[in-house]
Amino acid sequence: MKAFRGEILSVPEEGDVRHYPDGLLLVEDGIVTSCGPYADPGVPVEKLDGITVPGFIDSHIHYPQTERIASHGEQLLQWLERHIFPAEQAFADMDHAAAIAAFFLDELLRNGTTSALVFATVHTQSVDALFEAALTRDMRIVSGKVLMDLGPPGLRDTPESGRADSEALIARWRGKGRLGYAVTPRFALTSSDEQLAEASALLAAHPDVLMHTHLSENQGEIAVVAERFPDAADYLDVYDRFGLVGPRSVFAHCVHMSERAMERMAEAGAGIAFCPTSNLFLGSGLFDLAQRDRHGVKLGMGTDIGAGTSFSLLHTLGEAYKVCQLRGVSLDPFRALHLATAGSARVMGIADKVGALLPGQEADFVVLDPAATPLLARRTKGASIHDKLFALQVLGDDRAVAATYLRGKLAYAR
Ligand code: GUN
Ligand code: ZN
Repeated sequence: MKAFRGEILSVPEEGDVRHYPDGLLLVEDGIVTSCGPYADPGVPVEKLDGITVPGFIDSHIHYPQTERIASHGEQLLQWLERHIFPAEQAFADMDHAAAIAAFFLDELLRNGTTSALVFATVHTQSVDALFEAALTRDMRIVSGKVLMDLGPPGLRDTPESGRADSEALIARWRGKGRLGYAVTPRFALTSSDEQLAEASALLAAHPDVLMHTHLSENQGEIAVVAERFPDAADYLDVYDRFGLVGPRSVFAHCVHMSERAMERMAEAGAGIAFCPTSNLFLGSGLFDLAQRDRHGVKLGMGTDIGAGTSFSLLHTLGEAYKVCQLRGVSLDPFRALHLATAGSARVMGIADKVGALLPGQEADFVVLDPAATPLLARRTKGASIHDKLFALQVLGDDRAVAATYLRGKLAYAR
């Protein structure tokens, strides 16, 4: 058994804040056996210096876009053509994919992210490279080969090859480490009707896999979708008609949603990945948290690298706060922490395993340093936990991550 002592904070549900200023976390075989106020456990104790929170969970990110972060000058469709598709072509090469996967996962750990739902590319080897690297590190990573038979030349599969390659990857990786598979049609515009139907068949054939795509992100995109699918009620309805809207579906963005579409999302049990830095960077729009709250749709946080501008979910929460301010909603820092941990876990269907440091969950956690910079040290001196957490979200990033633990083992230290 391992015992950890320090200030511990977790938010398993919105409004359920568990804060132990002097806490004890007990871990056996990588699993939390108890988390509460400190009492002598009768075994050697490791001190955690800072505020310990559950590992961050990124519910939408693209690893092949790591090197294209901060690419200037375009909105979504032009940005994809000019910056992203050329970069993704390089992932036909396994060595390139392996090198970027290793850098990417190390960057997640440096930022305190222990689980993620990750876009690869159209190439099966891009998924193999990521899963191999995640297995080595013992990270909880969910990913899948991107389906895009209407993609640009060199970045296209077919409905048949997309189906067969996805099946092969599911068979190859099922049950290994903490990996999971997501059927991943890029978005409505890069798949034919035939391929969207194949994606639905994959989901039906494999009850343990997720469906991961983009929805209602950018006005230019939405206009082209409406042109191609004139009979659909809205963008969500396009996916719905192919059987792609259900409790295992994760939709990135959902910035421009009708009340009908939000209601349908709630009814279906589908989840949203809110990606504020990406939505600001591409000029996509401001996510409407109040609309989401009216319907109670499952909600998590995503960085959406490379349209997103930071790997840090702390920084992403600071930007989420600003987006909500522009919508007239004040995002509470405890609620924000919930969204980037247990909220994302629920969206990904792994809330029984990670996200809240509850007994029975895997012991993935991060030690945050509220004095990571001279300014943070001044701002947080003598502050309440609420105030410290908010300052960490607005002023913090990878510099504030003192250590990251996976299943109770140190995986990164600053
Ligand atoms: N929609 C389709 N592909 C992408 C992508 O790679 N990034 C973002 N942000 N939106 C998309
Ligand atoms: Zn994305």
